[in-house]
Amino acid sequence: MKSDKNIVLIGFMGTGKSTVGKILAKKMNRALVDIDHRIEEREKRKIYEIFEKEGEEYFRRLEKEMIRDTSSHSGQVITTGGGAVMDAENLAALKSNGFLVALSASPETIYQRVKDTRHRPLLKSPDLMAEIRRLLEVRTPVYKKADLCFASDGRSGAQVADQILEALEKEEEFEFGKDWF
Ligand code: S3P
Repeated sequence: MKSDKNIVLIGFMGTGKSTVGKILAKKMNRALVDIDHRIEEREKRKIYEIFEKEGEEYFRRLEKEMIRDTSSHSGQVITTGGGAVMDAENLAALKSNGFLVALSASPETIYQRVKDTRHRPLLKSPDLMAEIRRLLEVRTPVYKKADLCFASDGRSGAQVADQILEALEKEEEFEFGKDWF
């Protein structure tokens, strides 16, 4: 890909953003910036600890700051937490210098992927499936604002990454075409 714009992976928890992001960054020879990981490094504690001790609002402030800082650089693959783009300013900052790629998966797939994880503070409800469905309903319209959307059900991270790369190349050709005619 010739463009220096960031590639930004968005989407619900358990859709494969981190796995796909790592593969994409390697294949594109780009730096990988995982927003949550950067926050954990800066805060020297885990996301669930930040949620537990300071609450979600505090975490969202850190997330916003990190997204603002990260968006000011180009040529990166950025992976975001599932709630990051629910904030309009975050979405705009990421879009201003990036190509947004949304990953999706069915509630059943997400359930299977997240049911045994303990580090996700938003998935603590006794009825996990209902909580996934509730959050997905609110969030899906925002994820759909991405430039490209891919379902990760039944696909490996490498397969999804290859699909994204192929689509990005095509997208770029199309963009060039638009300049010429
Ligand atoms: C969140 C998703 C998490 C993390 C935090 C909040 C969310 O990231 O940012 O727990 O609001 O969906 P992943 O999507 O990587 O699990």
